[in-house]
Amino acid sequence: MKVLVIGSGGREHALCWKIKQSKNVSKIYCAPGNGGTREVAENIDIKPNEIDKLLEFALNNQINLTVVGPEEPLVLGIVDKFEEKGLKIFGPNKEGARLEGSKDFSKMFMEKYNIPTARYKSYTDYDDAISELRKFNYPLVIKADGLCAGKGVVICNSEMEAKKTLKDILVDKEFGDEGKKVVIEEYLDGIEASLLCFVTKDKIIPLESAKDYKKIYDGDLGPNTGGVGCFSPSPLFTNELKGKINNILDRIIDGFKSEKFNFKGILFIGFMIVNGEPNVLEFNVRFGDPETEVVLPRLKSDIIVLFLNTIDGTLNENDLIWDNKPCVTVVLTSSGYPNEYEKGYEISLNEELDNSIILFHNGTKFENTRLVTNGGRVLSITSLGEDIESARDIIYKNIEKIKFQGVNYRKDIGEIN
Ligand code: AMP
Ligand code: GLY
Repeated sequence: MKVLVIGSGGREHALCWKIKQSKNVSKIYCAPGNGGTREVAENIDIKPNEIDKLLEFALNNQINLTVVGPEEPLVLGIVDKFEEKGLKIFGPNKEGARLEGSKDFSKMFMEKYNIPTARYKSYTDYDDAISELRKFNYPLVIKADGLCAGKGVVICNSEMEAKKTLKDILVDKEFGDEGKKVVIEEYLDGIEASLLCFVTKDKIIPLESAKDYKKIYDGDLGPNTGGVGCFSPSPLFTNELKGKINNILDRIIDGFKSEKFNFKGILFIGFMIVNGEPNVLEFNVRFGDPETEVVLPRLKSDIIVLFLNTIDGTLNENDLIWDNKPCVTVVLTSSGYPNEYEKGYEISLNEELDNSIILFHNGTKFENTRLVTNGGRVLSITSLGEDIESARDIIYKNIEKIKFQGVNYRKDIGEIN
């Protein structure tokens, strides 16, 4: 079969890499892809939000399955449009994608179905929001309602910061219409963990857990990023915690049934574990990045079968077979990221990487025969290992072999303390 993967990051490279291992697949296209997806797929110059062009491409090229990486096309309703034309596509429809596309909508869903989450209230009016700030303690969290390319969440340590953030979003329209509404919520102090789940007809089936490193500097310091390192499984996921999480998954699927959401695809749940109690920070409706880079190398099953069974509603827990070996990834970033950074620096290897390394590309492209940097996150250097410690040793032994101007990376990924 012919498969189209939409997106251009490390997540999409990992998806193409895993799809390539399927016996069922003869050809993979990636739109627009990157320097890494080019090794396993044919890159197509169409952006993820150019839905009509993607649809035309899928129809003209007899695509049997489309897999959507990023949230934007899902929120724009790509699944509804493909399904109208009878095309198979993996991901939730426009209604289900609101769980990521609107923070207010997802918080209302959590509240209605008793899903533990931070106390919150939503506001569209600046004066109302200002007058109710006193109901919250500091730090507090202000979130623009819509998709803001991962930049819409601000942790405010003082009233002054909170007032400025509300003005930026509601009055000065920093995020345009995506910030017409804000959610103000209490700050939860705990440890984060990510759980991706397949959701199919009346069923939610978790994949293996992961721990994402969001801060740019060692010791979890500095500003938030899209994620600069990750490992799977998360050691927080003890049997006791899994029991509590299963309870939350039951409530989620009951909510989906009651709301008659026809949700098919991935639900990514961001948890904050506070004193052993899981709270849901957010829902995403797609694979995580870099979570995908550490979860897929551990998956032994044919991912195409999982995608098709999810779409048909026949997926079962025992379709998912896992390698017990943990997996670690460290992301090489461009100097300046997550703020401004430059692109276009040549990437070179001064020595072959060990065979056990899987190198996923996040932001790279080819300029003729030169591979150059093309994003803030550039490469994810990934390895399975007998344990987390040995996987991280392999990575850090190899990481110095990769060179580009301004390369940065965290030195403490996978350190368990
Ligand atoms: P979100 O896009 O909602 O995941 O927020 C991005 C990041 O902000 C999360 O991964 C957390 O690190 C942080 N965050 C969001 N909400 C809260 C909260 N209520 N308490 C503490 N940290 C939060
Ligand atoms: N790693 C977090 C995300 O994909 O949103």
